[in-house]
Amino acid sequence: METSDVQADLKHVLYSREQIQQRIAELAADIDKDYEGRELLIVGVLKGAVMVMADLARALHSHVKMDWMAVSSYGSGTQSSGVVRILKDLETDLMGKHVLIVEDIIDSGLTLSWLKTNLLSRGPATVEICTLLRKPAAAKVDLDVKYVGFDIPNEFVVGYGLDFAEKYRNLDFVGTLAPHVYE
Ligand code: PRP
Repeated sequence: METSDVQADLKHVLYSREQIQQRIAELAADIDKDYEGRELLIVGVLKGAVMVMADLARALHSHVKMDWMAVSSYGSGTQSSGVVRILKDLETDLMGKHVLIVEDIIDSGLTLSWLKTNLLSRGPATVEICTLLRKPAAAKVDLDVKYVGFDIPNEFVVGYGLDFAEKYRNLDFVGTLAPHVYE
């Protein structure tokens, strides 16, 4: 879906399809360079990271393996609690592997902090994180994120994988919703 498909629901567009693709190409170039000569496994965290994974993987010029995890954060409402349950685990043995976790957004950082620790316990060579979006003002833990697409204000955003009540994931841009949608 494009902006014209959801015009009435939108407050504003934060990043257009073109801006996202441009930034993903830059991140892919950094990743190609940093992992040159090493075999890389990229791990997408369902469901939000589907779009970023698909576009990042295709923007890379090196072979990568791809795997997926689904996690659920225990907590009240929309707030992440840091207590995470694995709904779908990796099929790949991480022993000795170079792992890059790919996310759509890092908010409090609690989910990724837990996930990084979990993956590190499986004996990989390295574990790094790539996220399209990050909200520095919402951070509750100090998390080292190697690849960040855009640092954004502490606003509720949708699109390009990010949902509101499971809607808007299939927007080809990232934007904020008009108050009438969620009030
Ligand atoms: C989002 C996002 C991260 C997490 C970030 O997933 O994809 O996994 O929240 O939040 P945190 O930094 O506060 O821990 P969500 O739980 O919305 O699931 P989804 O990807 O299936 O939409």
